[in-house]
Formats: sequence, structure tokens, C-alpha cells
Amino acid sequence: MSGHIKNYGQHYLDNNDFLEIQKVLKSDFITQGPTIKKFEKKISQKVGSKEALVCSSGTSALHLALISINIKEGDYVIIPAITFLAAANSVKYLNAKIIFADVNHESGLVEPENLEKTIEECKKLNILRKVKAFIPVHLNGQCVDLKPINYICKKNNIKIIEDSCHALGSKYKPFNSSKKYKIGDCSFSDISTFSFHPVKNITTGEGGALTFNKKEIKKKLKVFRNHGMVKSKKFFNYEVKELGFNYRLSDLNCALGLSQLKKINYFIKKRKNLFDYYNRKISNLSLYLKPIKTYTYCEPAWHLYVVKIDFKKIKVNKNKFAKELLKKGIGSQVHYVPLIFQPLYKKELRISNYKGAKEYYKNCLTLPLSVNMRYRDIDYIVFHIKKIIMKNK
Ligand SMILES: Cc1ncc(COP(=O)(O)O)c(C=O)c1O
Repeated sequence: MSGHIKNYGQHYLDNNDFLEIQKVLKSDFITQGPTIKKFEKKISQKVGSKEALVCSSGTSALHLALISINIKEGDYVIIPAITFLAAANSVKYLNAKIIFADVNHESGLVEPENLEKTIEECKKLNILRKVKAFIPVHLNGQCVDLKPINYICKKNNIKIIEDSCHALGSKYKPFNSSKKYKIGDCSFSDISTFSFHPVKNITTGEGGALTFNKKEIKKKLKVFRNHGMVKSKKFFNYEVKELGFNYRLSDLNCALGLSQLKKINYFIKKRKNLFDYYNRKISNLSLYLKPIKTYTYCEPAWHLYVVKIDFKKIKVNKNKFAKELLKKGIGSQVHYVPLIFQPLYKKELRISNYKGAKEYYKNCLTLPLSVNMRYRDIDYIVFHIKKIIMKNK
């Protein structure tokens, strides 16, 4: 079988990508040049936001987003119990505290009821006034129900930073509304963040972006993206008043990003077709494994293909199952180990028994999904899944 199913995800590059990078390589600027602005403009056009700022990764995008809303020591930020480390780490970088919200056990998403419960608990603990932000995660490409979440947050003075790293190209249609919103347009949030890591919906190698609608955020973030340096006549020619970072993205990366963006509609369609084909292929194994829960309010640009496997029923544990797949050249992964289990976060405040997160984690397995794949790759993967099930059950 081909190498592109050895990992759960993989980038797709073509000759146009190479040519665009080459153009920048032969130009006067390989970083800090004009391609950065061009990429920012295209990103904001793509997601429908007024502004975009690119940076070195999805993690730095989250860190910058928290800085832009003045998160500081002593503040609390709510994040889902199921997500990548980046959101939690960015809160920690600022010495703020984390509150984990539980998730739906079939989708891994924070539903409005999960958020309401989290806020109730914060009220009981008398810390609600210190809760300054919520970072909902559009897990696997499927968005959270932004409108009710926005309503709950507004009522409690909580800002929303969307972690849209999985969801470039996803759309949201609120209940009882005929309008579709693009993830990243920030109609229901303050800021949205994206990652362009190679497994994501488009790649720049490493890279990230923030999208938002307020001009003043960009001014502030440009300073923090570049060490905290501001132009100054007093000194020749800059001064530093606040601690910033080198979170810049180079023109080389942006050239790749611009070229990848041109293909995004094809990427989304291909991923959707593969996703649907997987669902059809596993439908006769529904006693043992199922796709994740989907929501009618979301039109996802699928980033990951996650199945819920009843490992107890098939009498194989997740580790062994993954190892058996790997023997056949099929990579798999877990998205994600609940953050409450991670040693670094063991001491964070617990406001729930996190039943939903534990249940989601217990059964979830990510199977390969990338633009490079063909339907026959899925035939091969499902064939071997069936074989493992039948051998062990
Ligand atoms: C949900 C989520 N948020 C944030 C990030 C961080 O992005 P990056 O790897 O570009 O720092 C990732 C990356 O995998 C992610 O999956």
C-alpha cells in the first residue's frame, strides 16, 4: 500500500506550490517582505473577516489571541477537556489558570449545555468574575454551536477565542437561520485562530493565523509578533516597552500558503468525499464501530476522520488495535488524550467528573485522511479493520 496512509494525515503539494516558493526564493525578500501582507489579505477574504495576521504557528496564534484580550496572571480561561495541548499551554504561558469544560461523548465538542454547567460550577466556586475567556475548539473540522455559546459568554462577560485550527473552510448555520457563516469571520467571537501545520486543511510548513474584525487588535498583535518592538524617533530606530516574541511567518511560508489557498475548495471536496466513503464502508460494522456524532448546524471542512470503536466488545485494546493496523502500513492516532490526564495539568482545578471526555477518549481512533488518498486506500483500511475485529471478537 502507498506511503500516504502511514500517517493519520499528510500534506498535498504540487508543482504550482514549488514554483510560488521559487519565485520568492529568487526575489529580494525571503522574509519580512510583501508576500506576508498578500497572504493575510487572502486569508481574511477566504474566511470573511475584516483583518488577518499571520504568525509562526497555531500555538503562537492562540498565545497572541490571549495577549490581545489582556489575559494575565490570576485570570481564568475555559478550554475543552478534549483538545490539543496548544490552548492549555498558551493559557499557562501567561500564568493564567485553566478551567476544563466537559465535552459531548460522541463528538468531542463542547456543547452549550457543557459550557453552562462549567459556568454554574464557577459561580458556585465564586470565581466567575475572574473567568475572562473561553476557547471553543472546532474539533475534527466540525464547529461548536457558536450562537448559543456567544449568548452564554456575553451574558457572563467572557470573551471567545475560537480555536479553528481544524476548521479552515468550515461553515456554520445557526438554528432557525437561513444565513451561513464562515468559520473565522468572527460573527460570534472576538478572534479566530488557525494552524497551517502539514496535516491541516492547507499548509505553509509551519504557520498560523488570527482573524478578527477590529483594526486595533492588528496594531497591537504586530508589535507582540515582533519582539515588542515599536518604531521610535527617540532611539534610532525602535524601542521596546513590552515583552514580545519572534512569532513572525516568513515570505517563503506565505508563498506556499497563497498557493495552497488556491486549491482549498478542491481539498475540502476531496476530504468530504473520502469522509463519506469511509462512512459508507464502515456502515456494515456498526455493531463495533461508528462515525462520530455530526451536527446539522455545521457544514464541516473535515480535518480528521475519527471513528468510535467499541474496544471492549471486540476484545482488543486500542494500543493493540493500532499496532495491528501499523503492521499493515496503516497509521492511526488519538485526538486527544483528555488534558486532565496529562501530568502537567493534573493540578488544575476540577469542576466536573469529565465523563464525556473520558468516554470520547475511550473509544476514539483517528484513521488516515488526506487529499493524497484514493478510495481504494479506504477499501484496504476497512478490510484490515474488519479482519482485526473478526479475528479477536
Ligand atoms: C486544535 C489545535 N489547536 C492548536 C494547534 C496548534 O497548532 P500548531 O501545531 O500550528 O502550533 C493544533 C495543532 O495540531 C490543533 O490541532
